[in-house]
Amino acid sequence: MNMKIGVIKGDGIGPEIVDEAVKVLDRIAEAYGHSFSYTQLLMGGASIDANGVPLTEETLEQARASDAVLMGSIGGDARTSPWYRLEPEKRPEAGLLGLRKGLNLFANLRPAVLYRELKEACPLKAEIAEKGFDMMIMRELTGGLYFGNRSTVEVDGETVAKDELVYSGTEIRRIAKRGFDIAMKRRKKVTSVDKANVLDSSRLWRKVVEEVAEDYPEVTLEHMLVDNCAMQLVKDPAQFDVILTENMFGDILSDEASMVTGSIGMLASASLNETKFGLYEPSGGSAPDIAGKGIANPIATILSAAMMLRYSFDLDKEAQAVEDAVSAVLRDGYRTADIMSAGMRQIGTKEMGDRICGYIR
Ligand code: IPM
Ligand code: MG
Repeated sequence: MNMKIGVIKGDGIGPEIVDEAVKVLDRIAEAYGHSFSYTQLLMGGASIDANGVPLTEETLEQARASDAVLMGSIGGDARTSPWYRLEPEKRPEAGLLGLRKGLNLFANLRPAVLYRELKEACPLKAEIAEKGFDMMIMRELTGGLYFGNRSTVEVDGETVAKDELVYSGTEIRRIAKRGFDIAMKRRKKVTSVDKANVLDSSRLWRKVVEEVAEDYPEVTLEHMLVDNCAMQLVKDPAQFDVILTENMFGDILSDEASMVTGSIGMLASASLNETKFGLYEPSGGSAPDIAGKGIANPIATILSAAMMLRYSFDLDKEAQAVEDAVSAVLRDGYRTADIMSAGMRQIGTKEMGDRICGYIR
């Protein structure tokens, strides 16, 4: 299979972790007889430095022309980086939002898994960690508060800021379908998260999700209010299979879910549209404080590349091989600094990439 992959190395630790994921993709290509070609694209801070804007029309076009895009992470330290002295719509994050919207990437998949080998990293009580967990957060990514009208105006001598939260039935239906489709391949349970006791958009969300559920009789659907969900994630994370939720709630809950795995450096993500195209990136940020030191954990990016193999290229066997290699490296005691624990062997970014490649047969 010949695939064209757009690569956005990004800012901070982005370039280091992406290099390792590309190394793993090349190893897969070699082992399974595929050919992957890469086009480097600029987005975020690196694009501001080169082009004055975080996302150019040209980058968007090149991304569209790719079969999938692999991305590191973007952004810098908001207290010190000159990027954050720009207008909000010219900052690195605006590039990411523009890319999501421009490519219609409405479905964001964020798996949160507690690896058996990393149970000690889980900050929850031992009896909760013991049960393990494996959930998929399905976050709507192109609607809601992130893309509603916003304004800051003076009204009667007072500054008033406004952000609109808008969802249409169509937007809810398409993400709900994706959520149920994915649940069918997992443990067949969907927890739809909303704030239907307060918000109209959530009441519509609930109604549409129930309509979609009728087409999936095998899937158990439950509704949960977002505040309760935040609590349940630390009380009993094992209860969740697929969490289906809107943009802002998904942003918050996915950070919480990643924290309870104890290692944000392990969490992959995929953002998909109606086609096979997807944008694949680690859930963690650009960690400017450790950039360039060779200590960042590349596993989240490597697992994101595995998601690319599975969701955009339908290469399930190859994706599994990458995931198995990650499990093997953990089983054999190799750890980057962020997931280090007593008795394990600490290694750097490059060695982690090399070792994972070594397990791919
Ligand atoms: C994420 C990030 C982004 C978001 C930021 C960088 C705009 O937090 O991908 O979760 O809020 O969606
Ligand atoms: Mg976030």
